[in-house]
Amino acid sequence: MRSIVIAITGASAMQLGERSVQLLLQNNKTVDLILSKGAYEVAKSERNLNIPVEPNAQEVFWRKKLKVEKGSLNCYRWNDHSASIASGSHKTKGMVIVPCSMGTLGRIASGFSLDLIERCADVHLKENRPLIISPRETPFSLIHIENINRLAKAGASIVPPIPAWYTNPKTIDDIIDFIVVRLFDSLGEDFDNIKRWVGPNK
Ligand SMILES: Cc1cc2nc3c(=O)[nH]c(=O)nc-3n(C[C@H](O)[C@H](O)[C@H](O)COP(=O)(O)O)c2cc1C
Repeated sequence: MRSIVIAITGASAMQLGERSVQLLLQNNKTVDLILSKGAYEVAKSERNLNIPVEPNAQEVFWRKKLKVEKGSLNCYRWNDHSASIASGSHKTKGMVIVPCSMGTLGRIASGFSLDLIERCADVHLKENRPLIISPRETPFSLIHIENINRLAKAGASIVPPIPAWYTNPKTIDDIIDFIVVRLFDSLGEDFDNIKRWVGPNK
């Protein structure tokens, strides 16, 4: 089965990336997961989480944290340039970067692939495969907007993590799920175990 690459970078709200991985695994998908160097720092400072960098230890960590045994999960080091997913000959269904920092966004927009996430995004663009980017910053500077514009023109889907209020969310988890479902709509992936908004008063 072709994998879906999930990249979590050093932007706020890594819970969005985490929920993405959980839903994919719960739905028996194959996930290639990369955390940027910045993501480990944000996890520590925003959530007091020490995520292991070593791939096998990280898989054990996520399976325990996300309480999911199904699906297939491959974790990669942020600087593993020899990973299969760094090559265009390794086929995937697509890649989702959530949340995407302005640093990673800018480097992808300029073709400046320093880490595995940036290289993998570069590959998805050159191979015309789906690349979904969820940029997290506010406010955006003109440089951020121009980088987003450049990536959209190059074929990426830009899906910012903006919640909707018409769904009348009751919890943070409701907000997270709304955003994650919209991300995967862009990839054409559906989840059986998640409620969708079907209109008011239903
Ligand atoms: C707690 C915390 C939250 C951050 N939130 C954001 C953010 O929302 N957006 C952003 O672009 N950078 C954010 N940063 C800064 C990035 O982590 C920093 O620029 C880092 O170098 C990005 O690295 P990466 O792109 O390799 O993940 C945050 C940093 C910290 C410590």
